[in-house]
Amino acid sequence: MQSTFELPLLSPASHRSDVHSWRGHFGFAQRLVAALRPRSFVELGVHKGDSYFCVVEAISRFPDTVRAVGVDTWQGDAHAGFYDESVYRGVVAVNAQYQAFSTLMRCTFDDAFSKISGQIDLLHIDGLHTYEAVSHDFRLWEPRANDVILLHDINVPKKSFGVWQLWDEIKVEFPGRTFEFSHCNGLAVLAKSDKGLAAVRLIQVEFGSPVDC
Ligand SMILES: C[S@@+](CC[C@H](N)C(=O)[O-])C[C@H]1O[C@@H](n2cnc3c(N)ncnc32)[C@H](O)[C@@H]1O
Repeated sequence: MQSTFELPLLSPASHRSDVHSWRGHFGFAQRLVAALRPRSFVELGVHKGDSYFCVVEAISRFPDTVRAVGVDTWQGDAHAGFYDESVYRGVVAVNAQYQAFSTLMRCTFDDAFSKISGQIDLLHIDGLHTYEAVSHDFRLWEPRANDVILLHDINVPKKSFGVWQLWDEIKVEFPGRTFEFSHCNGLAVLAKSDKGLAAVRLIQVEFGSPVDC
C-alpha cells in the first residue's frame, strides 16, 4: 500500500476524545463534506464520536438540510474493547448541539437497517473489524449508499482484522472508483456515483491523495 499523509484541517475539529485512530482523516473528511455536500450521512460504529462529530460538524457549516444518524450499541466490541455507560452519555452530550439534524440510534447495525429509510449519500462503516462482520455490514448497507462509502482500518496487520480482505474484493468489484489512505490504520474510499467520484477527484487533484487503487 502506497504511503499517504494527513491532509490539513479545513477548520478546527472541536471534538477529540482519547481515541486517536481516526484523527489523521479529519482533514479529508472535512474536504469530502465540502465537495460532496451530502444530504444524508450514516455512520455504523460511533464509539466516542471522533469520526462522527468530525463529519457532523463539517455538515453543520453548510445551510443544506441534512440528516445524520450515528448507530452503535455503545457497548463496545472485541476490537474496540467493551466500555461503560459514560461513553454513551458523553456522546449524547456532544450531540445536543447538533440535535436539529443528528440522531444517535442505540441498537445493532442490523436493527438500524430497517429503521433508517431512504438512500444514504455518505456512509461510514467502522464497526467490528473481522472479515465476517465487516463483510456483512458492507453487503447489507452498500446498496443503500448513493455516493461515497468509507471503510476504516484497511491497514491493520492484525490477524483478527479482515477489512483489508474485504477491501481487496471491493477494489475488483468497483474498478476506477476506489481510493485509499494508508495512514491512521488506513481509510478506504469507494466513490459509487459520478458525483462521489468528482468530489474525491477534486481533493486528489489538490493533494495527490487519497491514492487510486
Ligand atoms: C472502532 S469503534 C468506532 C470508532 C469510531 N468510528 C471513531 O471514530 O473512533 C466500533 C464501534 O462499533 C460498535 N459496534 C460494533 N459492532 C456493532 C454492531 N453490530 N451493531 C452496533 N454497534 C456495533 C462498537 O460498540 C464500537 O463502539
